[in-house]
Amino acid sequence: MTLLFSAVFNVNAQKENAGIANQLVIIANNAGPVISKDNYGHFSEHLGSCIYGGIWVGTESSIPNTYGIRNDVLFALREIKIPNLRWPGGCFADTYHWKDGIGPQEKRASIINTHWGGVTEDNSFGTHEFMKFIELLNCDAYICGNVGSGTVKEMAEWVEYMTSGSDSPMTRLRKENGREEPWKVKYFGIGNENWGCGGNMTPDFYSDIMRQYSTYLRNFSGNSLYRIACGASDFDFEWTETLMKEPQNRYMFQGLSLHYYSVPGGWGNKNSATNFTEDDWFETFRLNYEMDRIIKGHKAVMDRYDPGKTKGIVIDEWGNWFEVEPGTNPGFLYQQNTLRDAITAAIHFNIFNRHADRVIMANLAQIVNVLQAVILTKDDKMVLTPTYHVFRMFRVHQDARLLQTDLVCEDYIMGEQAIPAISASASMDKVGKIHISLANLNPSKEITVTCPVIGETYNSVSGEVLTAPEMNAFNSFDNPEVVKPASFKGYKLKDGILTVAMPPKSIVVLELKKE
Ligand code: AHR
Repeated sequence: MTLLFSAVFNVNAQKENAGIANQLVIIANNAGPVISKDNYGHFSEHLGSCIYGGIWVGTESSIPNTYGIRNDVLFALREIKIPNLRWPGGCFADTYHWKDGIGPQEKRASIINTHWGGVTEDNSFGTHEFMKFIELLNCDAYICGNVGSGTVKEMAEWVEYMTSGSDSPMTRLRKENGREEPWKVKYFGIGNENWGCGGNMTPDFYSDIMRQYSTYLRNFSGNSLYRIACGASDFDFEWTETLMKEPQNRYMFQGLSLHYYSVPGGWGNKNSATNFTEDDWFETFRLNYEMDRIIKGHKAVMDRYDPGKTKGIVIDEWGNWFEVEPGTNPGFLYQQNTLRDAITAAIHFNIFNRHADRVIMANLAQIVNVLQAVILTKDDKMVLTPTYHVFRMFRVHQDARLLQTDLVCEDYIMGEQAIPAISASASMDKVGKIHISLANLNPSKEITVTCPVIGETYNSVSGEVLTAPEMNAFNSFDNPEVVKPASFKGYKLKDGILTVAMPPKSIVVLELKKE
């Protein structure tokens, strides 16, 4: 048996689930913190065919586009209410010199993308193209600056170029390049993975250099930057400690990033995205659940120095990392996406929701054609992945208030290990509707969850389910609708108690309202 917030891992699993009543108690009359819409954010890097081919096809392309941005991808992203987009990396960000990507396209400098496949980057997608994409998506920009190989001046000028309305060499340059008005840039990252690809820095060195860079990240013309310092990877609490403990850092950043990838099999022996066993399925979710322990650990450090929670955790890279599809460039990180990835997304979102008091943003790695993408493209074709559908189903949690829940559920057991078979969270939106998101990780067992709703009375329920006959079901260009949401009727509501029959390996999102 597993109690929410105290998941049991690597123990001699209780072999008996018999007698466990799966129950999710929902306290409806005491809504908690707002679940930031930004927790449903995205990440786009100059990597493989994420930008080129996936987003940007250029104005001359025969693929229908708006200012060079493919329409099918644009419309699909609007549908999931994408709240923000991080760009240009990733590791690429600390090699990116923004002036290479402005001005007439034919005159832009070509560079080698040294991190990702050694391909030539012609910089045809630069600041103006990205900001146009942001405008078309009606979402917030999250720009990641170059600390690893850039200069303070370069970073400061980029912010001035984008956001200042005053007269200056940078703003004149922007106007010469066709943009009269400054843009709004909400989020700005002070480097990426500076403990690794972003300069291999020690935490002390980064802490010092971060202050230097941050000092010159100015707020121009009413734009207010939410500055995000490079945070830790995984369980590296020492990095967080170093950044948080320095009193001078207090005013230098508002958010601290955190990266965690689930890599079943390990870096040297990664899983295939589609050809996997039930052991791999289980191990993936066991690793996904680690996100909860990781957040708790970093929160505990932050709480000591920032009990008022003025600084947010920004999980700007998360997701499953599998072996690339056979025959594709290993540097392009192109992987298929199955029902397993959909459940991964549901587990993460439920965790992020429950940490709404500190987690202010999360960005799936990555948006199109890279790692756990929501969209795959091939020439003029586009396919929505199972992960996409989870983003669409869970969008109801964006900016809703977290409801306290108490989950008691049976274990999903594999060998000597056990993880909670059910993942769940609930929120109340601005008009008082409740949304409950549940996932049943067990691939072969229906689980009925009883949900007493305390404090409010609802009389109307509706829902959607995402499942498929096989664990490794996926959407392909030839068969794009194998995994797609369907209307869900497997619930009963009687005397304030909701009962939900969760099909094996499924995700269900329910809406409760008063009629
Ligand atoms: O998302 C792929 C890469 O993973 C990013 O560029 C880097 O930040 C991380 O290591």
